Amino acid sequence: MRKKIVAANWKMNMTLGESTRFIESFLLDAADIREVEIVIIPPFTALAKVTELLENKSQSIKVGAQNMHWERNGAFTGEISAALLRDLFIHYVILGHSERRRLFGETDEIVNKKVRAAHEATLRPIVCVGETLEQRDKGNVEKILSIQLRGSLKDLSEKELQETVVAYEPVWAIGTGRNATPEQAQEAHAFIRQTLREMSDETTADRIRIQYGGSVKSENAQELMGQQDIDGALVGGASLDPRSFAAIVKAARDQK
Ligand code: 13P
Repeated sequence: MRKKIVAANWKMNMTLGESTRFIESFLLDAADIREVEIVIIPPFTALAKVTELLENKSQSIKVGAQNMHWERNGAFTGEISAALLRDLFIHYVILGHSERRRLFGETDEIVNKKVRAAHEATLRPIVCVGETLEQRDKGNVEKILSIQLRGSLKDLSEKELQETVVAYEPVWAIGTGRNATPEQAQEAHAFIRQTLREMSDETTADRIRIQYGGSVKSENAQELMGQQDIDGALVGGASLDPRSFAAIVKAARDQK
C-alpha cells in the first residue's frame, strides 16, 4: 500500500512573515494527520524558517526545495547544491518542473544529472513530467511521457527509483484552473506506472508514488486522489492558503 504524499509548491511566493503565518495556521488543522505524508516546498529564502517552525511539531510534515544544481559545490554563482539543502534538513527536492523546463531550458539530461545528485546526497527527488496541450492534441501524450521518464530517471537503482516520487503535471492544467479529469489523469498515471515497470520491475513500479499536479483544489482533490494510480498531489495555487491546502491533505487522508 503506497502512502499518499501531498506537497505544497509555493513557487516564487511567500515572504518570511507569510510563511510563518501559513505554518502556524496549517498546524492547527493538520498537525495530527499521520496517514498522509505532507511536504511544504517554500522558496529557498524561507526553507530555514519553515524547518524551524515545524521542528518537533509533526512527524508527517517534511520540507522540500524547488530546485538544485547537480554539482556538489564550487564556483556556481546563484546555485544551491543537494549538500547545502541536506544541511538544512531538507528531505525532498522538485526536479524538472515544467516551469524550469520551459523558462530555464532544463532538458531530460539536466534533470537526470540533478536526480542522480539528489539521490547521492539522500535527498528524495519529486520528478515532474507532463505534456503540453499541443502534444496532447496531436495524440503524443504517451510518447512524451515515455521520453521524459526514460531520460530523467536514467541509470537509477531499484532502491533509488523507489525513493523517487514522480509528479504527472500536464502543462495545460498548471495555473489554468483547468484540471485533467480523473479519467484522463488515471490513464496517464497508469501509463507512467507501466513505463516504470518496463524500466525496472513489478515490485519497484508498485512502490513508486505518482502525484498529480495541475489546478488541484479542495473541490477536485478527493476524486483525483481516489484513482487507483494517483498517490497524492503536487499543489501550486491552492497551497498558498493554509485552509485550502489542509482540505486537500484531508481529502488524501479520507480515501478508502
Ligand atoms: P497549480 O496548482 O497552480 O495549477 O500548479 C501546479 C503546479 O505546478 C505544482 O507544481
